[in-house]
Amino acid sequence: MVDIKTIVVLGAGLMGNGIAQVAIMAGYNVVMVDVKQEFIDKGMASINKGVNRLEEKGLLTAAEVLGRIKTSLDLASAVKDADMVIEAVVERMDVKKQVCKTTMDNGPSHIIYASNTSTMDITEIGEDCGAPERVSGMHFFNPVPLMRCIEVIRGDKTSDETFQITMDVAKSLPCLRGERYIAPVLKSRPGFIVNRLNAPLGIYGHYIRDLAYEKGIPWEQLDADYAVLKAPMLPCVLSDYVGIDTSYYGALYYVEKLSPDFKPGKVITMMFNEKKLGRKTGQGFYDWSEGRPTPDTSIKAGLVDFDIIAAIRMNEGCRLLEEGVVKSYNVIDEANMAGMNTPGPFERGKDRYKELIKKLEEFVALTGKTYLTPCEMFKTGKFLEMA
Ligand code: CAA
Ligand code: NAD
Repeated sequence: MVDIKTIVVLGAGLMGNGIAQVAIMAGYNVVMVDVKQEFIDKGMASINKGVNRLEEKGLLTAAEVLGRIKTSLDLASAVKDADMVIEAVVERMDVKKQVCKTTMDNGPSHIIYASNTSTMDITEIGEDCGAPERVSGMHFFNPVPLMRCIEVIRGDKTSDETFQITMDVAKSLPCLRGERYIAPVLKSRPGFIVNRLNAPLGIYGHYIRDLAYEKGIPWEQLDADYAVLKAPMLPCVLSDYVGIDTSYYGALYYVEKLSPDFKPGKVITMMFNEKKLGRKTGQGFYDWSEGRPTPDTSIKAGLVDFDIIAAIRMNEGCRLLEEGVVKSYNVIDEANMAGMNTPGPFERGKDRYKELIKKLEEFVALTGKTYLTPCEMFKTGKFLEMA
């Protein structure tokens, strides 16, 4: 088995710099690569801030940890002495395939390539690189140092050794908020576990946001509808935090792979075109120039139906079981908790699933979004046997 000592983290953005931080904290030598020095500088500033904060708390020695990271603008030379690449570049299949091939063309014959794609097929990312058996998925959650979950994904051609090494590296990366939860994803299907569970919520989200926009309802009021859930971030804040581009590209990918019903709504398309991408550009649903916004939630829009949300998520969880992505609904619930700090769909909904099916059928009839039609596993209640 390859002993991983040096990791190239590809992309110094929101995810890349978080991944690089936890990798140097775990003791790996890291080379963080991006296309422009200004992106590297921004990523390094974030890593320095995080590591220094931990030194102030007496948890590590900053100089020692930071001594393990170098940076580069040239992937081909950076991978020459590396054992693994963890890729966190923009969510575009063409770019991911290209950097995967550059890795395999220039890296040593044992190098492993793990993609942090949010949605995309690991098999397809590796198909033209010449060594698909050394390609896997390693899907982190934002912010990487604080979110416990990492989904490790097996593509159709991923070798047992590559999968095992990816699992081992994932387990070795520290988390500042509790123990890491590593979810093995047995088949590369769009969105893997947590994002797939939430993907069709996007269909509902686009519907509700477009409705709020048409009615001139402010985003604070729409977010206020969700305050009752007491989730760590309200939905429009979270969309900004993740990045509107990531959600937009994700929706396009689901259109291609799952159903036209995932088509990005008017609001999200407008924001994408106007480059209002959220936290990374300083403006999204909210203004981020003064840091994370705290919307006033005293007035509610009254648009959101939580039963529909519960039903959509549970139906998608049942599809994951049908497709063999996971074998048990507890893994889905646990991954959701570790990846988003909110309860999964089964814990809350399984005892009243028949009621939820009815609600979902009514919503499909209202909107014509047939992707949301309850699947067999959900309708028959067979999922109850897969705890
Ligand atoms: N290094 C070191 N310390 C850090 C750090 C870093 N990089 N980042 C934060 N910290 C420290 C902070 O300094 C702070 O320390 P103190 O308490 O001593 O001040 C501590 O960690 C907590 O930081 P915050 O105050 O920022 O944390 P919070 O309590 O406000 O919680 C949160 C932040 C965990 C992000 C919480 O809001 C949350 O759970 N939000 C939901 C996030 C979520 O759902 N993420 C998943 C998105 S989906 C996804 O990622 C998948 C995809 O493919 C798109
Ligand atoms: P980001 O825009 O913050 O960062 C991407 C970085 O990649 C940029 O700095 C960009 O310059 C760099 N890049 C683009 N092409 C490159 C290339 N050819 N070589 C080297 N660097 C290149 O994006 P992000 O939010 O960090 O997302 C990165 C990946 O992680 C995406 O696949 C995304 O879907 C996934 N992801 C994002 C989140 C999230 O919440 N933002 C969560 C999990 C996974």
